[in-house]
Amino acid sequence: MRRPRGVKSIETKHYEERDAFFRGLHNLDRRSFLKVSIAAAAAAAANGIVQNLHAFMPIDVANAQTNEGFRIAYISDAHLYERKVNERFVRSLLRAVDDVNKLDPQPDFVLFGGDLAQLGAPGELDLGAQILKNVKAPVRMMVGEHDWFLDMGDHWQQLFGQPNYSFDHKGVHFVVLNSIHEKDFWTERKLTPKERMHTVAGLDNAIQGRFMVGEEQRNWLQQDLAKQAPTTPLIVFSHSPLYKYYEPWNFWTDDADEVQAILKKMNHTTVIHGHTHQLLTNRIDNIDFHGMLSTAWPWPYAPQGLPPLTVQMNRPDPFDPNDGMGTGTVFVHPDGLVDKVYNLWNRDPVQVSSAYLSSNGTSSVPAKPNLTSY
Ligand SMILES: [Fe+2]
Ligand SMILES: [Fe+2]
Repeated sequence: MRRPRGVKSIETKHYEERDAFFRGLHNLDRRSFLKVSIAAAAAAAANGIVQNLHAFMPIDVANAQTNEGFRIAYISDAHLYERKVNERFVRSLLRAVDDVNKLDPQPDFVLFGGDLAQLGAPGELDLGAQILKNVKAPVRMMVGEHDWFLDMGDHWQQLFGQPNYSFDHKGVHFVVLNSIHEKDFWTERKLTPKERMHTVAGLDNAIQGRFMVGEEQRNWLQQDLAKQAPTTPLIVFSHSPLYKYYEPWNFWTDDADEVQAILKKMNHTTVIHGHTHQLLTNRIDNIDFHGMLSTAWPWPYAPQGLPPLTVQMNRPDPFDPNDGMGTGTVFVHPDGLVDKVYNLWNRDPVQVSSAYLSSNGTSSVPAKPNLTSY
């Protein structure tokens, strides 16, 4: 049947909208950012993707806290492809930026948790940097393996500087680590940079080693903490979990035991990590661990089981491209203990409080996400 002239096909409309979207990403100043992010949200709503419009409900919970402290936010694991290859992950990152910009009051800073790029390409990292410039609060960057293994961190460092660093904020000492070093598996095999990157991105292949912080950085960490009194609250950001969770998928840091031994000299340490793309909570001795959500996709849970304190999210709906993803906030108490809020885009938010961790899971037990399993 002939289509009446002047009526565009769904494909044509889709590609026109897509081209307009990517055009809008050029010169992404604040005004055009609002335009594209509103369009992204409207497209999501039209597709029935947004069922829960209360993604930031728990902020009221956090605001109700009476003791002093401060809030930080995170965005993590955006996995951007080059411009025009994949628009879905770009829209997700825009949505995350928009979410964080709407926080009232604004967080003291926003931590980006690594894996800004999917295959470490300069175009992917540039696009991510351009989008993150629209975050209103100051942004602190952390590197992930997807940002690193094409050029061994050259472009990422040109954009964002040193991958490991420390700073102090309102009485809390913060350390950002590059935890995704790997032993050289590529030189002997004569792999090209692209082959090396693809191998690392594969996670569950048998060729690569496991992630590690490495001796040089462990020495740096030891020296950095030597200047701090053990009573100073410490928050460490790492991309991989700083414990041994599941080796076959590289949800793992090979020298985690050595790193934990350094951290244990502090009275209390909180580690906040990316990479695992899921609700994940653990406590080892005096160290609390919190995983961050991804804006790109949720990983399944490790088949051999979870750290006992983890509040498990039900399996995300495979027909909902935003389920199991989101951003989050971290309320930092004056003693450095944190209440972590997972702002899931399609479920009620989940708060994992310091009281829950300190009581070893016996009090302040978080409510589970509201949707049933699929
Ligand atoms: Fe990731
Ligand atoms: Fe990662």
